[in-house]
Amino acid sequence: MEPAPRHDDPPSPPAHVAIIMDGNGRWARERHLPRIAGHKRGAETLRKVLIAAGELGIAYLTVYGFSSENWRRPADEVDELMSLLRHYLCSELAELHANGVRVRVIGDRGRLHKDIIALVEDAERQTQDNTVLHFTLALSYGSRHEIVEAVRRFAQQAATGDLDPENISEEDFTAHLSTAGIPDPDLVIRTSGEMRLSNFLLWQSAYAELVFTEKLWPDFCKQDLTDAISEFRQRERRYGATGV
Ligand code: IPE
Ligand code: IPE
Ligand code: MG
Repeated sequence: MEPAPRHDDPPSPPAHVAIIMDGNGRWARERHLPRIAGHKRGAETLRKVLIAAGELGIAYLTVYGFSSENWRRPADEVDELMSLLRHYLCSELAELHANGVRVRVIGDRGRLHKDIIALVEDAERQTQDNTVLHFTLALSYGSRHEIVEAVRRFAQQAATGDLDPENISEEDFTAHLSTAGIPDPDLVIRTSGEMRLSNFLLWQSAYAELVFTEKLWPDFCKQDLTDAISEFRQRERRYGATGV
């Protein structure tokens, strides 16, 4: 049996923190650097935040790395982002694995380069039994696409007579999303002062607490994560019921 929590134990962290890592371009512009310099620094921030998340006892960390709409950016920037991703997956995997991090990638893989798909699959396979921290990277990800894909699968099953539409439950729907098996985020953080979800985890964030910070992603640090968690703790999560 778990020991009863003592009143002086530190409060437990939110189980699932999701982050919209925004502001790399502005960080670079402020320094008269090319946008890719901001993305590179952003990748370093992610490395540090993963360590911080482990130290804070967060069980699930999901980050928005590249949206389905980000394909609309100039080809040069997309290419540079893909190179950075390639480099990141190669250089970080050993350390993530050694630290017990399970890596998952969600999003439309069909649009990624073949070699990146291979790296993603390798990272997922190598780390599949790790349980210390569940790290999910959203790449070429868009929530609407994910939802439409789930609907398509239901429709196909209904068309072949394998599914009675009357029986579709919220749990079934959740199980058909790319985040199946991952609990809903408790806290969604967006950096850089933008206050929108930009097609990130729309279904899953139905009751997430949202925290927005002015910090640009390359400047985000462990203290900012701790501050966001403190703000989360001030919130009263009512899920539609009356307050205490
Ligand atoms: C977030 O930074 C990274 C990606 C979306 C790939 P941005 O590149 O959106 O930075 P800003 O918003 O232009 O500052
Ligand atoms: C959202 O940021 C996507 C990621 C952080 C990966 P964007 O910078 O692309 O979002 P918008 O265009 O400002 O909504
Ligand atoms: Mg942006």
